[in-house]
Amino acid sequence: MDWRSLAGLTGKNIEKSCAVIEGEEKVIPGAVSIKYFPMAIEKAQGSLVWDADGNRYIDFLTSAAAYNAGHCHPAVVEAVKEQVERLQNYTMVYFYNDRPVRLAELLITTTPGDAPKKAVFGFSGSDGVDAAIRAGRSFTGRRKILSFKGSYHGMTTAALSVTGIVSDETKKDVCLDPHVIFAEYPDPYRNSWGIDGYADPAALSGKAMESIAALLERHRGDVAAVLIEPAQGDGGMIFPPGEFMTRLRGVTEREGIVLIDEEVQTGMGRSGRWWAIEHFGVVPDLIVTAKSLGGGLPISAVVGRAEILDAVPAPLFAYTHAGHAVSCASAEAMIKVVRDEGLAAAAVEKGQVIADWFRSRAGRYPFIGDIRQRGLLMGVEVVSDREKRTPDKAMAMKISWAAWERGLIMITFGKDGNVLRLAPPLNIPDELLQEALGIMDASLEDAASGKVPAAILPLLKGW
Ligand SMILES: Cc1ncc(COP(=O)(O)O)c(C=O)c1O
Repeated sequence: MDWRSLAGLTGKNIEKSCAVIEGEEKVIPGAVSIKYFPMAIEKAQGSLVWDADGNRYIDFLTSAAAYNAGHCHPAVVEAVKEQVERLQNYTMVYFYNDRPVRLAELLITTTPGDAPKKAVFGFSGSDGVDAAIRAGRSFTGRRKILSFKGSYHGMTTAALSVTGIVSDETKKDVCLDPHVIFAEYPDPYRNSWGIDGYADPAALSGKAMESIAALLERHRGDVAAVLIEPAQGDGGMIFPPGEFMTRLRGVTEREGIVLIDEEVQTGMGRSGRWWAIEHFGVVPDLIVTAKSLGGGLPISAVVGRAEILDAVPAPLFAYTHAGHAVSCASAEAMIKVVRDEGLAAAAVEKGQVIADWFRSRAGRYPFIGDIRQRGLLMGVEVVSDREKRTPDKAMAMKISWAAWERGLIMITFGKDGNVLRLAPPLNIPDELLQEALGIMDASLEDAASGKVPAAILPLLKGW
C-alpha cells in the first residue's frame, strides 16, 4: 500500500495515522501485513472503531472476524480484569490451574457429537491447525494431509503448508511440509468443471468427490487427515454443497481418516450455529477454533475426540503460555456471551437483513454477481459480467474505498480479490446496521458513478 499517495486522495484528516504508519515502516517488516487503508486504530467499542485522528467507523471486519461479540464486551473485560489481578498465568506444562480445565469443559459442550472429548490450547488459528495435524498423524500413524485449493489455514510452517491461497512463488523459501495434497474445493459459483453448483449441487459434489477419491487412491493407506473449512473464508466465503460434506464425512469414516473441521473464522456462532459444520449435520473428529474464541485475547483450541488428542506424546503440545489463565478467562466469558445473549440467532436475523438488502440492489448494480450468506458469514462477489461471472477486483476495491471514506470498514477478499467481506459483530445494534447499509448504498453509487478515483487502485494492495 502506498499510504503517502493515498493520503493525498482521501478527504479525511489522517495526519496522526500517517505518523503511526511511518513509525511502523521503520521498525516492523512488511511481511506482517497486507494493509488496506492508511488508518491506525486507536479505540474500539461494540461495533464502532475510531482511528488516531478521531474518525469514526462502523466495523464490518471485526479485526478479521475476531470479535463476534463486538469490541470490549463488558462481560469479557470484567473477566479479564478479575483474572489479571489474581493470577496472570502459571505454566500448565508443569502444574495445574482450573482456568484451562473450566474452558475445556465449557467448550466441549458447544461441539457436536457424543464421543468422549478433550481440548488443547494454543495462541492463534495457525498453531491450532498445527496441533490438529499433529494429532491426526499421531493417531493414524500416517503422513499425508489432504487440504483444499483456495484455503487459508495460517502462517506457521505447517499451517502455511496446508494453505492453498498463498502462491507457490511466495512460499518458495519456506521449506514446507512435503506431505500435503490439495483437492479442489467445490465452489458452486465458479469451478474448474464448469458446473453451476447452485443449479446442480449433486453434479458438483460428484465431481469433487471423484477427484478426492483419485487422490486418496494414489496415497492409499497414507492419508492421516482431511482438513477443511466448512465455508472457505479468505477464499471468498464459499459454501460447499451439503451433499459434498456428508459424502466427505462418509469417505473419511470408511478409510479411518481424521476429519479436521477448521472453524477459525466460521465458528463461535457467526454462521448462525455454534459451528458452521452443524449446518451439514456432520460430526467431525476435531474442530479447530481461534479468533473470536478469545473475546479479543489470543487463544486457539483444538477440540474433539479424546482418543485422537491423547495419541500425541508428551510434551508435543507443551507451550509455556498455552492455556494462559487470562486468555482462558476471557474465552470462558466470551462463550457465555454467545450462549446467553443468543448471538447465533442474532447472526441469522442480521445476516438475512444484509443479504436481502444486497438482493434489493442487484437490479440497480449489475456488478453484484453472487450474494453468499449463512448467518453473518457473508461475501458479495463483484463481477464485470454477470453471465460470464468475471471477477472485478477494481470495482470491489472502489466500493471498499468509498465505504472507508464514508465511515464503514469493509474490505475485500477471495481468490480473485473481488469479494466484499461482510463480518460485523453478531450483536451489532439495528440502528448501526441501518446506518452501515446507508453508507453501503452511497458507496455502491460512488463506485458505479465513477466518483471513486481510479488513481487509488495501483496504490492499494489487499488480497
Ligand atoms: C480459516 C482460518 N484459519 C486459520 C487462520 C489463521 O489464524 P491466525 O491468524 O490466528 O494464526 C485464519 C486467519 O485468518 C483463518 O481465517
